[in-house]
Amino acid sequence: MSTNQHRVFFALWPSDRVRDQINSAIQSSVKLPAARLVPRHNWHITLDFIGNVSDETLSCLSSHAANISLQPFEITLDRFDYWPKPRVAWLGCQSVPDALLELVHNINTAAAGCECHTDDKVFTPHMTLLRNAKKALPQPDGFSVSWLIDHFVLVESELSQQGSCYRMIKRWPAV
Ligand code: 2AM
Repeated sequence: MSTNQHRVFFALWPSDRVRDQINSAIQSSVKLPAARLVPRHNWHITLDFIGNVSDETLSCLSSHAANISLQPFEITLDRFDYWPKPRVAWLGCQSVPDALLELVHNINTAAAGCECHTDDKVFTPHMTLLRNAKKALPQPDGFSVSWLIDHFVLVESELSQQGSCYRMIKRWPAV
């Protein structure tokens, strides 16, 4: 039995185009040193945070997730919001498509099949843009970014003094 542990989560990983659109909107409206923001290469939406797992559980998660059939769908990023307790300012969706809820449900089921704990809170898609924040980032006029969801990923997170470093372990495309 291996004792390697991996801190992992399932996520939506934006394309460069989506990152560029978010970035230019933020830069046009926020008077903040760029270094205060979560680095743009780390922007993502977590679908299911799994936590620490062994090599065996990681393989189980990979094989269960491979059975998820994803039809492409679009989400619209158009909601700048804030959670006071973790003090995060985030970007999300005014309206959450059923297809996204179904994907999260299927991932939760896959994770439960590998005896992983899953979050039973209502899923609110969010992309953390600022930590230790006091309020939401200002919403630029007319801000709306369409994002075609045509894959989902499993990511390993390594915590260091410089912050989180994310490594994509696996990517599952839509059918
Ligand atoms: P956050 O951005 O709101 O902190 C990697 O840590 C990703 O998993 C982040 O998107 C983080 O959300 C999310 N996450 C959800 N639950 C978590 C938990 N219990 N511990 C750490 N990260 C969690």
